[in-house]
Amino acid sequence: MIITIASFKGGVGKSTTALHLAAYFQLKAPTLLVDGDLNRSALQWAAAGLLPFKVVDEKAAVKAARQYEHIIVDTPARPDPSDLKTLAEGCDLLVLPTSPDALAMGAMLQMVESLQGLTADYKILLTLIPPHPSRVGEEARASLERAGLPLFKTGIRRLAVFQRAALEGVPVNQVKGESMRNIAWDCYRAVGKEILP
Ligand SMILES: Nc1ncnc2c1ncn2[C@@H]1O[C@H](COP(=O)(O)OP(=O)(O)O)[C@@H](O)[C@H]1O
Ligand SMILES: [Mg+2]
Repeated sequence: MIITIASFKGGVGKSTTALHLAAYFQLKAPTLLVDGDLNRSALQWAAAGLLPFKVVDEKAAVKAARQYEHIIVDTPARPDPSDLKTLAEGCDLLVLPTSPDALAMGAMLQMVESLQGLTADYKILLTLIPPHPSRVGEEARASLERAGLPLFKTGIRRLAVFQRAALEGVPVNQVKGESMRNIAWDCYRAVGKEILP
């Protein structure tokens, strides 16, 4: 499968999602993570050499792709309409991560509008969901469901261990001495299962 992660807004967990979906798919079959964002977050995450899958930039991707069963693509924020068409139609599933706040949701809904008329399968992923007593995660989910938009059943909780993982250059389940690492990993594992059980 080719799975592309895209958003109009930065800071919504796009790279974190790409990285952890790659970690999930690698458990199934050889998986390549393509870092197509010029900020090269995924390549930086990989720099410590501790990730269980290969990460390349978009130039190296064409040659490398042959050897992999699954490809996950991280993309730049703010793709223009022609870029969006290319990346949406070049994958099996477009994952649209959004945090539940109004600005991010607005940007995500703009992207959904831009996808109308394209032959692309997409699914929205709620990320960075704050803990109780905040209810913004539930509220965002309810409004997306009311609108009938395709949405992952699983949402990703906001957990500090995700930042630790990026710092240490590992997927979240490999952060040492962190009691939340399994809970954090279970979020992405459940999303992965929704895509490929
Ligand atoms: N579920 C989460 N919980 C806590 N922090 C997160 C979570 N997802 C991402 N982050 C942090 O939020 C920031 C932005 O995430 P990132 O994946 O780089 O977003 P993007 O690629 O959309 O810019 C990073 O510091 C990252 O570590
Ligand atoms: Mg990023």
